[in-house]
Amino acid sequence: MPKQKPGKSEQAVGTPPEFLYAVQERFGSIWWDLAATKKNSVSGSRFLGPGSSADENALAADWAVLPQAPGDVMWLNPPYGNIRPFVAKAAEQAPALRATLVVLVPASVGTEWFARHVHRKALVLALRPRLTFVGSTDPYPKDLMLVVFGRWVVPGFDVWRWDGGKECPF
Ligand SMILES: C[S@@+](CC[C@H](N)C(=O)[O-])C[C@H]1O[C@@H](n2cnc3c(N)ncnc32)[C@H](O)[C@@H]1O
Repeated sequence: MPKQKPGKSEQAVGTPPEFLYAVQERFGSIWWDLAATKKNSVSGSRFLGPGSSADENALAADWAVLPQAPGDVMWLNPPYGNIRPFVAKAAEQAPALRATLVVLVPASVGTEWFARHVHRKALVLALRPRLTFVGSTDPYPKDLMLVVFGRWVVPGFDVWRWDGGKECPF
């Protein structure tokens, strides 16, 4: 298991493109990136975060007024040092969205934020294999999950072999 470097957290890592491709195959095109910079946005200029022309603070913005249509995906990979307010905001905003909201977070099912804002409110997909973020050489040393909110999403739990079931080395 790769060691986590002391003092270094995954605050601004990039999601691997092959995983984003699998997400879009399953859920639709990523139309907004709700936590990004110009450099790491996965949806071009349609992002919230530092340098955004839409809104620099996703926690204060109203995601429902962002242009979107059914079938679009709003993507959220929040800073992992501050997950709770982003997941709380996602759960609060989800009923007002036309897009599907897909959130990538550690699979921390024992947390208060999971119990309050995710459990029985969203589809939870535990991810296999582990993701290697852009800029890292090793897989992220914790399990991750996708939390999917949407009008037509049935809450529940499953494991998603997002690579299509190729041999998993972990
Ligand atoms: C884990 S990175 C996500 C990188 C990339 N968008 C992705 O999905 O792979 C989290 C990003 O959230 C941004 N961020 C931090 N606080 C934010 C806030 N209040 N509103 C919007 N973005 C924020 C950071 O600048 C950072 O780029």
